[in-house]
Amino acid sequence: MEDNETIRTIKERRAIRDYNTERDVPDELIYKIIEAGTYAPSAENQQPWRIVVVRDKETQEFIGQIAVDRTVELFGRATPRQELERRLGYIRSKASLERTIEILITGRRFEYIKGRPETNGAPVLLVLCVDQTHVGNSQPTLRGTGGVYGWSSPRHAIIAGAMMLQNMCLAAASLGLGTCVSSVQLDHFDDVGAISERLGIPYPHWVPILCLTVGYPKFERTLGPPRQPPEEIAFLNRWGEPFTLGGAE
Ligand SMILES: Cc1cc2nc3c(=O)[nH]c(=O)nc-3n(C[C@H](O)[C@H](O)[C@H](O)COP(=O)(O)O)c2cc1C
Repeated sequence: MEDNETIRTIKERRAIRDYNTERDVPDELIYKIIEAGTYAPSAENQQPWRIVVVRDKETQEFIGQIAVDRTVELFGRATPRQELERRLGYIRSKASLERTIEILITGRRFEYIKGRPETNGAPVLLVLCVDQTHVGNSQPTLRGTGGVYGWSSPRHAIIAGAMMLQNMCLAAASLGLGTCVSSVQLDHFDDVGAISERLGIPYPHWVPILCLTVGYPKFERTLGPPRQPPEEIAFLNRWGEPFTLGGAE
């Protein structure tokens, strides 16, 4: 069966880390992208999300530097080279692999978050915040008990936020824009606190969980990390039982 336009957009979306710094993204497009985000599902339609649109260069620099520092810590110090090579095994050319490892261990891979022209920076940085106290805990009688949702309730906001972010990535891709989800600057509690303070986010009620850079891609990027086919990740009726297209192989 042929892919339709929606499925093509889904498959062709790539994480973009080099932006055309001569083209800004007008607020109208950012508005459209956020609006598409709000059509994501959320538990009880509580829409437990907020977005901070960061255009201020100094704030982008602040958040980008955290990403660079954490990347140096994560890939430059904590991850053995052999492990890096394993994860990047899909890169065929030795020169590209070396270049990718080099920009990871030095943190240069995340300079684009700072929005500087000399490192192909993104003109816009969106910071997604979710209300982890809200979903499933909105009734005072259930608050703090896990309520009828059991242990899952704090996750609902994160799940909804992730779905919103994916809507935004796809909406951007459909408009010819590139995006990259990044979490590295929000993986550590200290950084979550520092970024919340800088942006005035009422943390810990609202928690920044992910960032999304948005801009016009500088290069066409068709190659991405490969995907496992459905027959490797899906089961029929019971874990371990193969799900395959009967007769279509
Ligand atoms: C939760 C999450 C966190 C991510 N964090 C980062 C990140 O910190 N930095 C980054 O460059 N990419 C990050 N990514 C993007 C992934 O690296 C990228 O989507 C993945 O390698 C697949 O590549 P593709 O999007 O081009 O298909 C993140 C993606 C997700 C969903």
